[in-house]
Amino acid sequence: MVSKEEEHKKALMQEEIDIIKKMSKIKHKIAVMSGKGGVGKSTIAVNLAAAFAKKGYKTGIMDVDVHGPNVPKMLGLEGKSLKFSDDGIIPIETEEGIKVMSVGFFLSSQDTPLIWRGPAKTGVIKQFFAEVIWGDLDVLIIDNPPGTGDEPLTILQTIPLDGVVLITTPQSVVQEDVIKSVNLVKSLKISIIGIIENMSGFVCPECKKEILIFGKGSGAKMAEKMDVPFLGSLPLDVETSAASDIGTPILIKEPESEISVKILKIADKIESKIMK
Ligand SMILES: Nc1ncnc2c1ncn2[C@@H]1O[C@H](COP(=O)(O)OP(=O)(O)OP(=O)(O)O)[C@@H](O)[C@H]1O
Ligand SMILES: [Mg+2]
Repeated sequence: MVSKEEEHKKALMQEEIDIIKKMSKIKHKIAVMSGKGGVGKSTIAVNLAAAFAKKGYKTGIMDVDVHGPNVPKMLGLEGKSLKFSDDGIIPIETEEGIKVMSVGFFLSSQDTPLIWRGPAKTGVIKQFFAEVIWGDLDVLIIDNPPGTGDEPLTILQTIPLDGVVLITTPQSVVQEDVIKSVNLVKSLKISIIGIIENMSGFVCPECKKEILIFGKGSGAKMAEKMDVPFLGSLPLDVETSAASDIGTPILIKEPESEISVKILKIADKIESKIMK
């Protein structure tokens, strides 16, 4: 007779096998992370997904922020219901064809907090990766919550990533936390695709002068010091925030804007590093 423990072990092994099978159909997997909250991870993740979709890649985005899943709102998919088939969970698609999966789709309301402890969070993320039917994707962007806790750790240890894109802002307290993420990723021998400095300057719409609210250039210096590539800096831009709030990433809403052009250039760099 098979014991309960053996059955459990078998089920866990099956989950790992399912994850590897599902992930092998996705050519490139990129995690967006930062040691700090509110630095623009989700904003950059949805815009990078939009950039890759625009380039013609079959693109998906996975939001593993269990406590603050913002991706559905940023892509105008808030309140959408998931469909299930015998093979698993079917991701929701945006008009641009970006496949989206988020814990947010499982919440009855965005205002409902999820109270999950470490193992439950790890479990739900693994289940996501085992059960979501992505199909053949060229690239999957994984948006993480801040810090170096359960969710990023699960991603780093479970998913065969091409690498990690780290987001910082110019303030030194933020950079201290991002350095922790750099060290975590390095210690797990996972490649760092590069660092993006977000909210690095503000161009006054009236006088067109650049105001360095949080300073500028320190992201590039930090990248050099940590010996990781620097992918570029993005300005603080009112339209970018407003576009996310109405559910259309700036790259889709205003593709010619200065920040969209910069995001596309960053996507070009990522493309040449991992896809070509
Ligand atoms: N370049 C930018 N210019 C202006 N506003 C921005 C920019 N980047 C992000 N924001 C705004 O800053 C806020 C935080 O951004 P976002 O939610 O993307 O950060 P996050 O790092 O994902 O946060 P969390 O740690 O909570 O997941 C949002 O209101 C977003 O619209
Ligand atoms: Mg976020």
